[in-house]
Amino acid sequence: MKKIVIEGGHLLSGTISIGGAKNSVVALIPAALLTDGICTIKNVPNITDRDALFDIVRLLKGKISQNGKTIHIDASNLENTLINQEVSVKLRASYYFMGVLLGKYKYVEIYFPGGCNIGTRPIDLHLKGFKKLGAKVTKRGHKYIIQAEELKGNVINLDFASVGATINIMYAAVLAKGRTIIKNAAKEVEIINITEFLNNMGAKISGAGTDTITIDGVESLHGTEIAVIPDRIEAGTYMLMGALLGDNLKVEGIIPEHNQALLDKLKEMGVDYTISEHTIIINRCSNLKPVNVTTLVYPGFPTDLGQPMSVLLTQASGTSLMEETIWENRIGHYPYLQKMGANITLDGLKATIKGKTELKGTEINATDLRGGAALIVAGLIAKGTTVIHDIDYILRGYEDIINKLSNVGAKISLEEI
Ligand code: UD1
Repeated sequence: MKKIVIEGGHLLSGTISIGGAKNSVVALIPAALLTDGICTIKNVPNITDRDALFDIVRLLKGKISQNGKTIHIDASNLENTLINQEVSVKLRASYYFMGVLLGKYKYVEIYFPGGCNIGTRPIDLHLKGFKKLGAKVTKRGHKYIIQAEELKGNVINLDFASVGATINIMYAAVLAKGRTIIKNAAKEVEIINITEFLNNMGAKISGAGTDTITIDGVESLHGTEIAVIPDRIEAGTYMLMGALLGDNLKVEGIIPEHNQALLDKLKEMGVDYTISEHTIIINRCSNLKPVNVTTLVYPGFPTDLGQPMSVLLTQASGTSLMEETIWENRIGHYPYLQKMGANITLDGLKATIKGKTELKGTEINATDLRGGAALIVAGLIAKGTTVIHDIDYILRGYEDIINKLSNVGAKISLEEI
């Protein structure tokens, strides 16, 4: 067991390089199994969610080799075996093997996925989509058996623009017969990255990044290459740290328009930053203005940055509102911010945050990935020492976070308990 220890109050200067997007790579790795060949994925981040997916690929007898941030997945001798609970519960994204194996073999047996505790996280929209393509879904305890004689294209209207359901339906549809149209599809940028990978394999998909995606089924898919796009959530988290503690903090390897909603809010709050192509230089702002933030689907303010953003709001002079609209339980970090001295009143998923309040270091617990990141932001600005427990959540999605922060002047360490 490990904990993160932070001595707060140190300015951040120097350069942080952004890794590949977690939410892309967790979908790209399973997708490689749609082919019968070798796929190369570049710019793969070093996060524990990646390792959990490797375990599932190996269970299915896929071969993985790695050279730094480049991985090769050989799916030529795949065996479509049961994905057991032990490997499946490690991450939510294990559900992508549903669409992939159903698409390829018309049969998949898998235990219900795990993931962060940020809501009930149903997968009804994924299952409805599979059924529309002709699959039969049987649930036995926590195990799903999804099978089809044949998958046939159809028009699928998503009740909600779910990222996971959009991608999973694409996986089931790429090798189906005929045309599938996903309406009210999610528009997140990761979906464009994944579509590029599938089209490189020989798939025929158009409309990714819009709310209507059209997939014309093909007979087979071949090995290919893709590079993972930069992680806009990792980038956004460091931008928020820069707004609080930056002394010309440079965050490089970003695609600024992917973070437009955050950049607009930072501007509204009075934060000083300069963008040049793939880099942002950001400085601390001692006179932050309060703002109202509502999380939305892309291109709105990302739910995954809502929790780190709430820490910035504790330092604005006046009353800010932070409202979560995507997940019903993304508030686990607030009691710990209150324990640190923040003035926050919760009404369901709406937080009224009054600032500016001094935060004080104390012992706190990460309750989920992005909530954990928020606590790191809080620890960096707090007076004294902050100790964060249950940090495995954070390591699931933030590559090398201790070193990246230490290198720019933070006093942060990972310690054995
Ligand atoms: C993905 C991201 C996650 C991000 C979320 C929203 C990955 C691996 N994770 O999660 O970081 O917070 O998008 O941007 O990419 N829903 C249903 N039924 C379903 C599916 C979803 O009701 O079948 C609901 C969920 O409970 C939630 C909302 O839809 O309230 C959004 O879920 P979704 O977009 O599917 O999120 P994920 O793909 O799981």
